[in-house]
Amino acid sequence: VRIVELASEAVPFAKTGGLADVTSALSRDLAARGHRVSLFLPLYREIRRAGVEIGPTGVRVRVPATGGGWEAEIRRAVHSDSGVDVYFVDVPSLFDREGLYGDAGGDHPDNAARFACFTRAALEAARRLGDGIDVVHCHDWQSALAPLFLGSGDAPKTVLTLHNLAYQGVFPREVVARAGVPAELAWSADCDSHGQVGFLCAGIRRADRLTTVSPTYAREILTPQYGFGLEGVISARPDTVIGILNGIDTSLWDPAADPYLPATYSRDDLSGKALCKRTLQAEFGLAATPELPVFGQVSRLVEQKGLALIEELGDELGELPAQFVFLGSGEHRFEAIVRELAERLPNVSARITFDERLAHLVEAGADFFLMPSRFEPCGLNQMISQRYGTVPLVHAVGGLADSVVHASEANLAIGMATGIAFRGFDASALRWALRFALELYERPAVLTGVRKAGMRADWSWEASGRRYERLFQALLETEREAIDAE
Ligand code: GLC
Repeated sequence: VRIVELASEAVPFAKTGGLADVTSALSRDLAARGHRVSLFLPLYREIRRAGVEIGPTGVRVRVPATGGGWEAEIRRAVHSDSGVDVYFVDVPSLFDREGLYGDAGGDHPDNAARFACFTRAALEAARRLGDGIDVVHCHDWQSALAPLFLGSGDAPKTVLTLHNLAYQGVFPREVVARAGVPAELAWSADCDSHGQVGFLCAGIRRADRLTTVSPTYAREILTPQYGFGLEGVISARPDTVIGILNGIDTSLWDPAADPYLPATYSRDDLSGKALCKRTLQAEFGLAATPELPVFGQVSRLVEQKGLALIEELGDELGELPAQFVFLGSGEHRFEAIVRELAERLPNVSARITFDERLAHLVEAGADFFLMPSRFEPCGLNQMISQRYGTVPLVHAVGGLADSVVHASEANLAIGMATGIAFRGFDASALRWALRFALELYERPAVLTGVRKAGMRADWSWEASGRRYERLFQALLETEREAIDAE
């Protein structure tokens, strides 16, 4: 299958969250299965700065817009050991600046133009560069207009994956009309999102298939509580949203061969984990107390991640026989919550930054991994932490519900328990879960059983990649059947 992946982020080039891990790992998995995969990204400043070796393709695309337009130079990554052809859409006036989507002052004001232009230029370039396209796979609002730009007829099939409905790319019509989106599309009913233009909304209406990143989230987004106003549009589709749980890159995340760790370890021999914990405590300036459990959280510091509950517990955290480490950056308000807790409480420490090495150290060195997310389309850290023998403590929603088995006595008895899952998004539920973890910590043999059950689980892309492959193939088969029937 000739697949074009349109992504606004992908590791190792540009990342703000789990989306980047998924677009990259999925592309590689599909290429490994023998498909032709081209991955398109905007050429952000941070990609230039990282010294990625980039070469020319000879392709230039003009994206017209009222009052001008843009000239996109299409470039390619020179080295690709993964079998994926990585292309960059280079429009310096749109992408050579700080921040993928915004800076300290908020979202970039021209995001509609930036991502409409990226999508149009990438589609045109893909057409000219390759030997045909079977499937265009879009991710989130940034590339969700692709099905509209492609139109119908003999256009390639389109799949839109929803990674997070909290981000929809909604803009006033006048803004979109100046953003290189032809007026007849910008003003069409397909694009209408409560009187404005919604990129994600349009993609939901027009993509041939919709997927999301976990089976539970696929059901949740049909409800007002998790649909963010799009539940009606999603429910109106003739088909259902397919939930495919993400995998993780098991070569990057492997406690037995992790170059970031002071000691490696495995399910058969967990002993190296103790040194990881000591190193973590030292790096975060916490007392070196092996007897206290460490709870770690690595996340974008945004509302979704449940920081309001942490804030509500506040000084109570200081009274618990435990230590807490927070790593991540995000919105000022939520950064302030963890920063202030860390200043006030000696058993809480925070690093307000994005740091790959420290992320690995938290995964390995913590005893419990905190994910009290209000909602979570999939979540990757709960899988990574299980692989690292670090027990996830989660709110049972979305992908968290699909990948963590609560340590009830019944689940413990059959060796299935892999974590702690609380229901109901409030501070008392989180308090209950923390106490549950502390009690589990007092039962070392049981805790080791939970750690090992998590380490046994398979989070590789094997199963998920196959589901996407089947989906793409099925789409093309219906196409062929339709042609044969004519
Ligand atoms: C978004 C979601 C997260 C998911 C990731 C990759 O960041 O918030 O739950 O794991 O996308 O699909």
